[in-house]
Amino acid sequence: MSEQHTHPDSTGRGASVRMRGVTKSFGSAHVLKGVDLYAKPGTTTVVLGPSGSGKSVLLRLLVGLMPPDSGEIWFDDTRVDGLPEADMDPVRTQLGFLFQLSALFDSMTVSENLLFPLQEHSRLSKVERRERVRETLAMVDMAGAETKFPAQLSGGQQRRIALARAIMLRPRLVLYDEPTTGLDPVRARGINMLINKLKRELGITGLVVTHDLHSVKMVADRVVLLLGGKVRIEGTFEEVMASDDPEVQGFLTGRGSEIGATA
Ligand SMILES: Nc1ncnc2c1ncn2[C@@H]1O[C@H](COP(=O)(O)OP(=O)(O)O)[C@@H](O)[C@H]1O
Ligand SMILES: [Mg+2]
Repeated sequence: MSEQHTHPDSTGRGASVRMRGVTKSFGSAHVLKGVDLYAKPGTTTVVLGPSGSGKSVLLRLLVGLMPPDSGEIWFDDTRVDGLPEADMDPVRTQLGFLFQLSALFDSMTVSENLLFPLQEHSRLSKVERRERVRETLAMVDMAGAETKFPAQLSGGQQRRIALARAIMLRPRLVLYDEPTTGLDPVRARGINMLINKLKRELGITGLVVTHDLHSVKMVADRVVLLLGGKVRIEGTFEEVMASDDPEVQGFLTGRGSEIGATA
């Protein structure tokens, strides 16, 4: 079942992402004060940080949903901050976004939900679309769910469908905003396994915002911790855990209870 069969222009190679000195304020709230970040193609980077530290804002800046006040944002060799909307479109088709509390359209079947992103952005034929839906559902272990309505699915299944929708265009970068929040540990683990599978099988570059250290351990190639509007530490999960920076430890031990809670 070759991916290239239906989508020859997407070889599944992930994109790189770079941020340089990115700042963003809302009125007097200086949320991002100069963020530098690099995500290597085909790797998963986890963005950690306290509630309100600007993690979702960072993802929104990346997709061009809002502009940074200053700094640079690069998607491969394309500088995307300040890019005119028309030029942003071809970039956006290479991005998948699993929003925080991503909602499906309740009145649409799973299949219709998945076809939604294809309407504007794909030249696939009707047969190819149906095949793409089938293939994507299989990928998220939801084969055969085409005609179901969201209300007939569990929370974990809905999350899988939302993820399927995010990868319908076979993006080269997927942004996951708290993909496991609200799920029990077993279902959360299932989503994390999917994130790893998409990396492995589609070569997708992933940027994952999460609060759950179990998830970090499972999915992260690199971890970035946002504190006070800047990247306080960057490294592997083990390196970040072993940091003797009191601010880093303060954050991690504040989260420590979550490790216990889901163990
Ligand atoms: N569109 C907006 N307008 C004004 N303030 C915003 C907007 N988006 C985010 N903020 C503020 O920016 C801060 C960071 O938000 P967010 O990125 O959502 O935090 P989190 O790290 O929890 O995802 C919060 O104080 C939030 O209120
Ligand atoms: Mg958020």
